[in-house]
Amino acid sequence: MIPNLFERELRDVSLAPGAVLLSGFARSFEEPLVAALHRVVELAPFRHMLTPGGRRMSVAMTNCGAVGWVTDRTGYRYDARDPGSGRLWPPMPDVFGDLATQSAERAGFGGFAPDACLINRYEPGARLSLHRDKDEEDFEAPIVSVSLGLPAVFLFGGTARADTPRRVPLTHGDVVVWGGPSRLRYHGVLPIEAGDHPLMGGCRINLTFRKAA
Ligand code: SIN
Ligand code: FE2
Repeated sequence: MIPNLFERELRDVSLAPGAVLLSGFARSFEEPLVAALHRVVELAPFRHMLTPGGRRMSVAMTNCGAVGWVTDRTGYRYDARDPGSGRLWPPMPDVFGDLATQSAERAGFGGFAPDACLINRYEPGARLSLHRDKDEEDFEAPIVSVSLGLPAVFLFGGTARADTPRRVPLTHGDVVVWGGPSRLRYHGVLPIEAGDHPLMGGCRINLTFRKAA
């Protein structure tokens, strides 16, 4: 068989019990997904939020959905309103919800209905240190994380901060789902290297879908 060098095959890679990399799964959603992303960002622009300790995050963020994840000097929380404008976050586009639900289903989590989508923009050098997603009200639902644009090295750790994380290369269209016994695993992103992506330009965008409330 002659391998097709231009179209990567869909491939699922188990990372841990309840955690899987769905290589290229978002590719077939690409066109409406990116169009919807641009509309959300017009209504709720990217901004660099402050950590509770007062540091400016290197990752720029925005949200869509019923609630959005925010951080400032008072702490981390989910809020129905964009603190930048005082308006509700833009509604979650159907294509976002469909991709999240179908990804979760493929990973073994049926009926995932996210109410929050955190949108992260990484410019070269931006990184996300090891953390757990634990500001949600319950941990029954998985996390669905979609990568677009420049490649990244995703760190997927254990349930203790000291556990050595696995390095998982992610490229445009990859989806990682973690839930069940992996729901509270530590994870992060190494500094992004400069590059130029044909569709997304000089940055990486990550969509993180959650059931927050
Ligand atoms: C996150 O943990 O919020 C984002 C992970 C990523 O950018 O891949
Ligand atoms: Fe996270």
